[in-house]
Amino acid sequence: MESPRGPGLFNRDQRHRPILSIERRLILSTLVVVGTQWGDEGKGKVVDLLTSRVRVVARFQGGNNAGHTLKVGGEQIIVHLIPSGILYPDTINVIGNGLVVDPAVLLQEKADLRRRGYFRQDDQLVISERAHVIMPYHKVIDLGREELLGNKKIGTTGRGIGPAYEDKAARVGIRMGDLTRPDHLRKRVDAALAEKNVLIEHLFKRPRPDANEILDQYVAYGEQLKPHITDIARILQEKLDAGVHILFEGAQGTLLDIDHGTYPYVTSSSVVAGNVCAGCGIGPMKLDQIWGAAKAYSTRVGAGGFPTELTDDLGERIRMTGAEFGATTGRPRRCGWLDLVVLNHSIRLNGLTGLVLTKLDVLTGISPLKIATAYELDGKIIERVPWDVNDLDRVVPIYKEFRGWDEPISECRSFDELPRNARHYVEAIEHITGVTCTLISVGPGREQSIIRESPF
Ligand code: IMP
Repeated sequence: MESPRGPGLFNRDQRHRPILSIERRLILSTLVVVGTQWGDEGKGKVVDLLTSRVRVVARFQGGNNAGHTLKVGGEQIIVHLIPSGILYPDTINVIGNGLVVDPAVLLQEKADLRRRGYFRQDDQLVISERAHVIMPYHKVIDLGREELLGNKKIGTTGRGIGPAYEDKAARVGIRMGDLTRPDHLRKRVDAALAEKNVLIEHLFKRPRPDANEILDQYVAYGEQLKPHITDIARILQEKLDAGVHILFEGAQGTLLDIDHGTYPYVTSSSVVAGNVCAGCGIGPMKLDQIWGAAKAYSTRVGAGGFPTELTDDLGERIRMTGAEFGATTGRPRRCGWLDLVVLNHSIRLNGLTGLVLTKLDVLTGISPLKIATAYELDGKIIERVPWDVNDLDRVVPIYKEFRGWDEPISECRSFDELPRNARHYVEAIEHITGVTCTLISVGPGREQSIIRESPF
């Protein structure tokens, strides 16, 4: 049907969008990479791989609860806070306003990276003046609360993430910009401590933090970080207008999302792709592609429902082969079969346009392989993740079985080189989810990747 404004003004598929905005989209190229499970899906490697094709890598939520393991030329580098693009000298790394930043961790990462020959220029990193700061009392509260919860504890990373986000919502948080204004910072810290000290002293039975000590330390952090602290939304908007390729790097995974995850066993931020906009200060129309990273099996650290968990020798085998120990806390990760109920949940919530399947090589030698396609709950078949974790604990996964393969696959560089059964496994995932596996990872190295579609 021709548009009332004449031919060509409206695109057939997007009839209500004027051509003007479509032309703008053509000069943009942004990609979001999020986790589709409980974190640790291997996003860091994928982001690192794609970073050679972008000029900006931005994080939009979380803090140093994340841990991205990057492998370059046999060297292993773990970053917790600084975006994965830091290994490329001409890439700008952005810490968005949606993060909570521990300045001590940030400075330590900067120093470590410099010592290893990376991050030579200050302008490789920009930090939002609006990002919130993790203060020493946040860590005391995080650990104190977990201790009080006893066997009901969340299993947090103990980094103060939750309490820092609580302060943001309670409007008593300290922001990165505050660190550069000592007088202002004193007032903010005094106000925050008036309340916190009661909790720390009387509920958690810990010594009161010393306000002067905190101030001296955090003013010093502010001085050291000043070259990086800026208006990141403006920088991103300028880069978007110039058509620069930007990669938005998610942390954690969709099942740890504060709204859509297995609440209360979740992190304290919104980890889904929709939060890129709020967490970096850009509009929703700027996001072109959204990829979700999924391990070829499942893992989880910390407590909370995990329907396909393997608590037997096979779970242990996957843990050892896949080196499934937390990059941040070193805790052994719980391991289990791939769960497509979870994956489909993430696909819907993030609007995924591609799947990045990681660690396929870890499944070599295991047969049969199982994939959960639905759950049974109280005699009913369900294909959705229940909102109540008590129900999630009770569901019985319904599995499809697949023949495994014995051939090593870490040297495969194209889909056709994979053994037939490995291809069938990938194709089954694509068939059931309706989303293409754009990238398949067959080992930790950058080169151990099968790139089937490139976003840039
Ligand atoms: P928090 O984010 O430290 O408050 O921890 C809350 C929950 O999220 C715990 O179960 C953590 O183990 C989990 N978590 C937080 N960050 C990550 C991550 O990057 N990978 C895996 N699990 C995480």
